[in-house]
Amino acid sequence: MRTRTLGTSGIEISELGYGCWPIGGGWGDADDERDIRSLCDAHARGVRFFDTAMGYGNGHSEELIGQAFADKRSDVIIGSKIGPKSDPSGSAEEVYPYDWVIECTEQSLKRLGTDYLDLQQIHCWRDHFTEESGWYAAMNKLKEQGKIRAIGVSAECWEPNGAVRIAESGQIDSIQVIYNVFDQQASDKLFPAVRSHNVGIIVRVALFEGLLAGKIRPGHTWHADDWRKDFLTDERLRSAEPHLSAIEQLCTNNYQTLAALCLKFCLSNPAVTTVIAGMRNPRHVEANCAISDGPALSEETLQALYQQAWDHKWVYPWS
Ligand SMILES: NC(=O)c1ccc[n+]([C@@H]2O[C@H](COP(=O)([O-])OP(=O)(O)OC[C@H]3O[C@@H](n4cnc5c(N)ncnc54)[C@H](OP(=O)(O)O)[C@@H]3O)[C@@H](O)[C@H]2O)c1
Repeated sequence: MRTRTLGTSGIEISELGYGCWPIGGGWGDADDERDIRSLCDAHARGVRFFDTAMGYGNGHSEELIGQAFADKRSDVIIGSKIGPKSDPSGSAEEVYPYDWVIECTEQSLKRLGTDYLDLQQIHCWRDHFTEESGWYAAMNKLKEQGKIRAIGVSAECWEPNGAVRIAESGQIDSIQVIYNVFDQQASDKLFPAVRSHNVGIIVRVALFEGLLAGKIRPGHTWHADDWRKDFLTDERLRSAEPHLSAIEQLCTNNYQTLAALCLKFCLSNPAVTTVIAGMRNPRHVEANCAISDGPALSEETLQALYQQAWDHKWVYPWS
């Protein structure tokens, strides 16, 4: 597993990270023992970055990470996120006040059973927070106290440009953003900005919550408690079919599945530090961990994948 450095933080992070939202619950088929095994399996295969949030299963995701790595703390990089105190359209003083940032971080540390986070992130970043300083003062206080090592923000939904100004500010170490074969908007303005200011990029939703992994097709049967049933509706799955078929045509000898090709696509961008994938199934962990060490995609394949960007205009059920 290759590593890359997260911005100017000096933190070495595995190219493939583990997205820990699904293990928190709400993705159907919950099984804590399987999920702890998959975290440990990913670690054994070289994964050194685990991305969680206080909001994933009301802290359950953090608790499972704490259990999985209780005796390996110094050998894992853990990033968490602070949820908003109120509607994110408000001012940063309302949504991410100083005391909230401190208190939420302390609670995450307890659930993780650790005394420091490698990375703490603002979960619902909005551009208008850039001028306000309370959240940032709290993050710096936590840094001074040794409770966090690096500061990041997560760009909202499909709005990468809302994180360009904070990238240029020199205040943060990383930005988490949606980037995948369909959604390539982050490469327009955000990626050039992070490259010139040496800010790390954590790619999320590289597999489009499983759609770009190729196994969710029209007629898919969803588990009752899987939130995706209201997002990846049958109508949307039908409209995605020609796009998925076109991408499948681009699979190569080294990247024979849609999932492998789509993960390698994200890693091919030099602005990207790590790609986090949700992967509870042991077969997915094994397949995904092999991607980092594989050969680069050819320029011809990359150019063809750039052509597969798709303005689907979908929004999440909670937007
Ligand atoms: N900051 C934010 O606001 C925010 C929002 C969304 C997500 N995130 C973070 O980003 C992470 C990743 O995004 P995501 O989990 O939404 O979606 P994702 O990684 O794009 O997709 C996860 C889905 O893909 C499936 N999968 C993974 N590898 C596969 C393979 N090789 N073959 C077939 N299927 C495969 C997984 O199945 P199995 O689980 O069955 O293996 C799961 O259903 C989250 O876990 C979370 O940490 C952050």
